[in-house]
Amino acid sequence: MAPDHRLRALTAFDDTKAGVKGLVDAGVTAVPSIFHHAPESFLPMDDVDVPRRFTIPVIDLASGSRAELVAQVRSAAETVGFFQVVNHGVPADLLPDTLACVRRFHESPAEAKAPYYTRDLGRRVRYQSNFDLFQSPAANWRDTLYMDMPAVTTEEMPAACRRVVPEYARLVRELYHALLELLSEALGLDRRYLEQDAACLDGLNFAGHYYPACPEPRLTLGTTRHSDPSFLTVLLQDAIGGLQVLVGGDKEQQAWVEVPAVAGALVVNVGDFLQLVSNDRFKSVEHRVVASSVGPRVSVACFFRTDGAAASTRELAPIVGDGEARYRITTVEELLRHYRAKGLDGTSALQHFRI
Ligand code: OGA
Ligand code: NI
Repeated sequence: MAPDHRLRALTAFDDTKAGVKGLVDAGVTAVPSIFHHAPESFLPMDDVDVPRRFTIPVIDLASGSRAELVAQVRSAAETVGFFQVVNHGVPADLLPDTLACVRRFHESPAEAKAPYYTRDLGRRVRYQSNFDLFQSPAANWRDTLYMDMPAVTTEEMPAACRRVVPEYARLVRELYHALLELLSEALGLDRRYLEQDAACLDGLNFAGHYYPACPEPRLTLGTTRHSDPSFLTVLLQDAIGGLQVLVGGDKEQQAWVEVPAVAGALVVNVGDFLQLVSNDRFKSVEHRVVASSVGPRVSVACFFRTDGAAASTRELAPIVGDGEARYRITTVEELLRHYRAKGLDGTSALQHFRI
């Protein structure tokens, strides 16, 4: 598609303020071309055998000795970069409640959602389809409600979210602190290290994703392959499935591994900031969400990081030990700015900071 034509199509779509859900409600039976991904963006294909070391472990936070827990977390963070946790401290009924409120927001009338539709990062509640709509080569079959916690007040939240989201965010933050302690120990450091010295700040970007059923799922993606702009991401997914992690190191052995929906579990993954701070010991691994004719799929990603003024002054520096720094020192704000300007284009934002 010619660039000016594409830009007009993107603008027209964005101006509806109704997202992909709006297209589906209008009855589209073909995926519009702004959502078409190039064939190579579906690579590697799904026919590669995956070595066992790349299965995504489920870690029970309430069982085993401290040393065993640290070892399990270390092993996952150093290889696949993903694990699931159970007995994580977030009560079982709060998980479906949180998914339901995100779903309720996205399924409320377009007029009710439109006032929240924005690309202004200064706003603490942002409903939008594709944060990188105007930057990335192809759009994703997904809408998102972002909220910057704890800055956003309960009154600012859409009504559908007020009762549940603050409580969910509070408990996920407690889990984050427990995980930072395990990860600090996994690096051989004092339990409080990542939290206190490495500026793994407390801010949480809540992303309530909605992936409508897609009429032509082979042409597009729910989320393009990417790694996360966070220290850690804690993800809650429903039972539909479709989240896949790229494993296997060098090109020939790479394969997509599904993160199976485990009832009651939360998915945890290492983000770019933690890969940088750990000087590549922990891996911020690429993942994607495939589009599906079954849906909607709902998920909630909590990205631990701090946006805005508080972040700009905080440095991200690799923990070097006896080795050499693999990254130059940067700030959360600089990394985030680079990430957003680039959009989801299949490359890692970390490359820009590598020495
Ligand atoms: C993300 C992400 C996965 C999902 O928001 O960064 O990878 O299952 N989400 O929605
Ligand atoms: Ni992600």
